[in-house]
Amino acid sequence: KKPVITIIGSLNMDLVTVTKRVPEKGETITGQSFSTFPGGKGANQAVAAARLGAEVYMLGKVGNDSFGKQLIDLLSQEDIHDEFIEVSSTKETGTASITISEQDNRIIVVPGANYEVTPEWVKSRESIIAKSDLLLIQLEIPLHTVIKATEIANKYGIPVILNPAPYQKLPKKLVESVTFITPNESEFEQLLADIPIEERDKVVAKCIVTKGEEGVDFHINHEKQTVPAVKVEVVDTTGAGDTFNGALAVAYAKTEILEESILFAVHAASLSVMKMGAQTGMPLIEEIKDNKIYL
Ligand code: RIB
Ligand code: NA
Repeated sequence: KKPVITIIGSLNMDLVTVTKRVPEKGETITGQSFSTFPGGKGANQAVAAARLGAEVYMLGKVGNDSFGKQLIDLLSQEDIHDEFIEVSSTKETGTASITISEQDNRIIVVPGANYEVTPEWVKSRESIIAKSDLLLIQLEIPLHTVIKATEIANKYGIPVILNPAPYQKLPKKLVESVTFITPNESEFEQLLADIPIEERDKVVAKCIVTKGEEGVDFHINHEKQTVPAVKVEVVDTTGAGDTFNGALAVAYAKTEILEESILFAVHAASLSVMKMGAQTGMPLIEEIKDNKIYL
């Protein structure tokens, strides 16, 4: 049976400009290319989980515009349940303006309709969470909604993976109520800085820290473990973290074995960076070799 994953989160259209360098203040330069890609951490994680064999329910909002229509169409092509994605009559579809230069990546996210995903809106969809094997959430929707969704999952004893991106300070109660937290290195530093020293060990124990090419750190019985990334040719790392989270959700929902799940997710995330766009390079289950999850 396919694991059932509910994702409450963002849908964005990614507006990607590739340039040799970013302009100085007041300067105009000529770039290399421009394309639009489906994105948003919520939708990206939904696509990753669906391609890796989960039945995925995506809960979120888009605007009444062409970006919104495209995003919903693409999710339904991935066999994701899209009937709980609502079209806002007041806000535009979220966008992420991404500049990829030879030096770094820079992203400006405008949430638009994603910020209309309120606690009340989620509350009225409680039954979807209740019948899931796992809830996966990020921070591109209002924090109060994340808190509400976690409360609902807790009520039904459903595990929750919180990807704290983009980072914001998390209430103690939320940190305590989720099963795993999946920060990248800088989010992990900020998370620890926001937690009193005496509580840090407990929090670190549930953190799975993604470190790009260096792989992933996590703890078993308070002992630090590292799973190295697979060496591949990097084209675009956008969405690698999302692939990791989607894959981790599927594997953990299926097995409840953390180590195996992390190995699987690291493998999937490594493969995802070989193509442009957040979702384009996300692997299908058949592409994950030596995966113990589906054996
Ligand atoms: O994690 C990558 C995503 O973050 C992009 O797709 C973009 O939409 C931003 O939200
Ligand atoms: Na990619």
